[in-house]
Amino acid sequence: MCGIVSYVGSMEAGPFLVETLENLAYRGYDSAGIAVVNSSGELVIEKAPGKLEELEKLLANNMPTGTMGVGHTRWATHGVPTYINAHPHMDCSGNIVVIQNGIIENYLPLKEKLIAEGHQFVSQTDTEVLAHLVEKHYQGDLKEAVKKALVEVQGSFALVFMHKDERYLVAARMNAPLIIGLGYGENYIASDIPALLSKTNKFYILNNGDIVKVAEDIIEVDTFVDGPPISASNRHISIVDWTVEETSKKGYQYYMLKEITEQPRVVHNTTKGRLSPKGDVKLDLAVTDEHLRRAKRIHLVACGTAYHACIYGKYILEEMLGLPVAADIASEFRYRKPVVHPRDLVVLVSQSGETADTLASLDTARELGATSLAITNVQGSSIARHSDSVLYTYAGPEIAVASTKAFIAQLTVLLLLGLYLSDIRGVSSKIDRKQLIKGLNRLPSDIDSLLARQEEFKGLADQILDDEHCYFLGRNLDEPIAREGALKLKEISYIHAEAYAAGELKHGTIALVEDGTPVVAIMTQESVIEKTLSNVQEVRARQARVFGLVCEGTQGIEEHCTSTIYLPRSHRMVMPIMATVPLQLLAYYAALGRGCDVDQPRNLAKSVTVE
Ligand code: F6R
Repeated sequence: MCGIVSYVGSMEAGPFLVETLENLAYRGYDSAGIAVVNSSGELVIEKAPGKLEELEKLLANNMPTGTMGVGHTRWATHGVPTYINAHPHMDCSGNIVVIQNGIIENYLPLKEKLIAEGHQFVSQTDTEVLAHLVEKHYQGDLKEAVKKALVEVQGSFALVFMHKDERYLVAARMNAPLIIGLGYGENYIASDIPALLSKTNKFYILNNGDIVKVAEDIIEVDTFVDGPPISASNRHISIVDWTVEETSKKGYQYYMLKEITEQPRVVHNTTKGRLSPKGDVKLDLAVTDEHLRRAKRIHLVACGTAYHACIYGKYILEEMLGLPVAADIASEFRYRKPVVHPRDLVVLVSQSGETADTLASLDTARELGATSLAITNVQGSSIARHSDSVLYTYAGPEIAVASTKAFIAQLTVLLLLGLYLSDIRGVSSKIDRKQLIKGLNRLPSDIDSLLARQEEFKGLADQILDDEHCYFLGRNLDEPIAREGALKLKEISYIHAEAYAAGELKHGTIALVEDGTPVVAIMTQESVIEKTLSNVQEVRARQARVFGLVCEGTQGIEEHCTSTIYLPRSHRMVMPIMATVPLQLLAYYAALGRGCDVDQPRNLAKSVTVE
């Protein structure tokens, strides 16, 4: 998604904007640009399609000087990635610029009206409409003009305006993330917290409907929707405990590998203070136990990788609690008519806490009167703030587009939630709790032992580098892990990968299996291993190459598989977490071997803030 950064203060804005755009590059983009009010009071805009290096080349001997500016990385929605369509966009007078992340849904009627009034457009973007609309309303006060303009605008957006004659920036948001970083005699605006960690750890996290005047020494918060303005002094300043060090690559070639190797610590941090060595679980939820005891059903809602965590959650929570649990894709949940009772618990799972469809599903849950619980990685994110209660996954900043450590942390938190709910509902006898706690406590060292075997997983990746298709099979708790393995592989290596519940393959897709097709079979669930082995036989009979993942000590597997990967044996609910690690590394080394940009796969964005 688009990245936004802006600065007002006393240092040179240009180099800071470019450096911070680098920090935002992980969100995914296809062009970039900056605008600075220079020392002569003129607006200077520089932009370039393609990677940030293109913009940097342009600026090498030509960096605009000036201490106030805006910068943007664009992930194209309306109009192809060209110089003209790159942000910042300007009005006809050349006095006003805007950068935006999101979609202006009614841009076409607005554009037609503005053209009829004499405005001249140069780009195909929805964003340019904003510059002309503010120009139309401008009467010497940028903030007032933006406020009037936004009344006419429909959509989801985060934006920043700058006028060459006014010494402040105007930021506003509606359903897209935007934060203000607080400095001394200088202030910053950005799409997300990690981008600004080298400058500050103090932030105002904007709410929907906020419009903010940001000068070097003053921040004024107002609203452009109905309702009383909230002054900045009444705003809670979020102090974030992430460090800039956590956002660096620490010598790794790619963030993804760094993040995979951080997983033992992530599991440790996520369970620390919540799971005692004796097995007591403490979650500090804002909703009362009484509320949680009354819940008759649980809905788990998310997108992408986080949705796979929800399917895992469905399996374990149903078993632990004996309650009906649904796992839903957020973009479907929000547009169907889900049957949600006021006594239900709706759990929103999101690394970023900003995914548009998951956020909208939270609204649906609230409208239906259900209790909402966020499982998210970003403190102060929209989903965290708007849910009745939050469980943080302490994964630290996740920069690689492909989610790895956040997924492992989500699975871990879902296990903790299951344990907690089973305790307060008095049903903890449904599972062998002691073994599960032991497995959780040992998980960091078990993951460490898998990380020590990277050469083995790289060897498997080398065997699929030239393949066009790959299938992943799993039953029961291994089924969501098969999905996650397939998603990781396809999104970063571009090998077409699909996952199937192992018993489902023969109902159609087996038609695609031929001599040499790689099939990854995840078989950590011993109660169904014989069944999955039958499905393995079916693909072997069609000359597939099978890579099997099993618990160490499992007998009789090697004769059915081309390669067998033995995982440290643990509790069956912990095994899927373990199985995820080799699949992440398989995807990583396959992408590396195929020369792909591992951290920024084509067409993808980190935080999906549009529908
Ligand atoms: C895939 C991936 C995405 C995200 C999805 C939801 O590797 O990262 O599928 O899981 O976009 O994002 P969050 O968790 O931020 O809501």
